[in-house]
Amino acid sequence: MKIPSTMPFFRENDIHEISEELQKILRNGRLILGPYTREFERNFREYCGVKHAVAVSSCTAALEIVLRYFDVKGKEVIVPTNTFVATSNAVVYSGGTPVLVDINPDTLCMDPRALIENITPETKGVIIVHIAGIITPEIEEIKQICKDMNLFLIEDDAHAHGAMINGQKAGSLADAGCFSFYPTKVMTTCTGGMITTNDDGLADYAISLRHHGVGKDLENIVNLGNDWLMDEISALLGIYQLKALEDNVKRRNEIARGYAEYLENIEQIELFTAPPNIRYSYYKYPVVLSRNIDKKKLIGKMESEYGIHLGSAYDPPSHLQPAYQKVFGYKKGMFPKAEGILKRVVCLPMFVQMTDEQIKYVLQSFEKVISNILIEEGRVNDSKYPSTELSAVAGIFL
Ligand SMILES: Cc1ncc(COP(=O)(O)O)c(C=O)c1O
Repeated sequence: MKIPSTMPFFRENDIHEISEELQKILRNGRLILGPYTREFERNFREYCGVKHAVAVSSCTAALEIVLRYFDVKGKEVIVPTNTFVATSNAVVYSGGTPVLVDINPDTLCMDPRALIENITPETKGVIIVHIAGIITPEIEEIKQICKDMNLFLIEDDAHAHGAMINGQKAGSLADAGCFSFYPTKVMTTCTGGMITTNDDGLADYAISLRHHGVGKDLENIVNLGNDWLMDEISALLGIYQLKALEDNVKRRNEIARGYAEYLENIEQIELFTAPPNIRYSYYKYPVVLSRNIDKKKLIGKMESEYGIHLGSAYDPPSHLQPAYQKVFGYKKGMFPKAEGILKRVVCLPMFVQMTDEQIKYVLQSFEKVISNILIEEGRVNDSKYPSTELSAVAGIFL
C-alpha cells in the first residue's frame, strides 16, 4: 500500500449526482459558457465574499489575465521565490519582468522587508502566494506597503481555497485572487482556475480575454485574448467540489491537529502553527527538519521503506530553477532565508480521505526514519521504536 502526498476527493453521493448531471450536459450539447459555469461562478463569489468570480482554464491563465489588466508590459512585478514557476511565468507572458524576493522563514511567505527593498520606479505590483495554504499575518503590512506605494496586489490562491484571516476568505484579500483547480489542489475541476475581484473593470476584461477578446460577440473582437475558457463539465465538478469545501478544509485542519499533537514531541521538527485569527487551508502540511537531518535521505527512506511520498513547498525555489538562472541570471545565495529554510522543509501527506490509521502510520514511520538517520550518523545510539513495533503498524498498509 502506498500513501501519496496528495489526492483528489469526491464524496460518493456527489459522484452519483455528478454522473446524472453529466448526462444532461452531454444531451443538451451546451459545453461552454452555460448554466453550470454561471452557477459555479455565482457560488464561488458568494463563498469568497467578493463581487465577481470569473472561471477560466487554469490559475496560470487567471494570473496572466489579471496581470494584463494591470498592464505590466515593460514593468516589474514582485513575486516570492518559493512558489511554483507558474506565478512568475505569468508575469513574463504578460510582458513584465518578475522580480523574485526572499521570504520570511517563519511563514514561508513573502517577507515585507524584502518587498520594500525591491521596489523601484519600475515596480507596478506584487503577487503574494499563500504557500501550502498558509496566510501570513504580515499580509496586513504587505497590503499597506502596496497602498502607500500605489502598487496592485494579487493573491496567488492556488493553495488557499477556504483559508481565512479575521473571517475573510482568501480571494477577497487583495485587488484580485487567482485560484487553481489542478488535480492536486484543495478542490479540483481536473484543470481549471478562477479570478475573484471586486473590480467591475477587471471582471469585464477577464470575460473578454478568456474567450479570444470577445466583445458583444465573436465577430467583434475588442481585446487580444486567448482560449482560456472553463468548460461546462469542469464547472459541474467545481460546483460539487465547492459544496464539499468547508467540510474538506475542516477535515484537513483535523488531520493537521492530529499531526501537530504527535510531532510537537519530536525535538527534530518545527511546525507552522496558525495564529487564532487565521485558518490555513492545509493544502500541504509543511514541517521544518532540524539541520542535522539529511532531507534527501529522509524522503528516500520514507518512500522506499514505508511507501510514503513526501511533498515540497518549494525546493528548489524559482530562482534556483535552471530556466530562471539562464534567462534572468539568478544565482545560488541570492535569497539566503528561502534557501536556508526550504532545504529543511518537507510536507507530510495531506488528503481528505486519509484514515486515522494512515495518519498514525505516517507519523510513526516519520519518527522512525528520523531516529534511524540519527543512529546511522552516530548522533544517537538507540531507536525509540523497536522495529517489530513499527512493522506491526506497517503491516496494515504494505
Ligand atoms: C502557487 C501556484 N501558482 C500557480 C499554479 C498554477 O496553477 P494551474 O496549474 O492551475 O495553472 C500552481 C500550480 O501548481 C501553484 O502551485
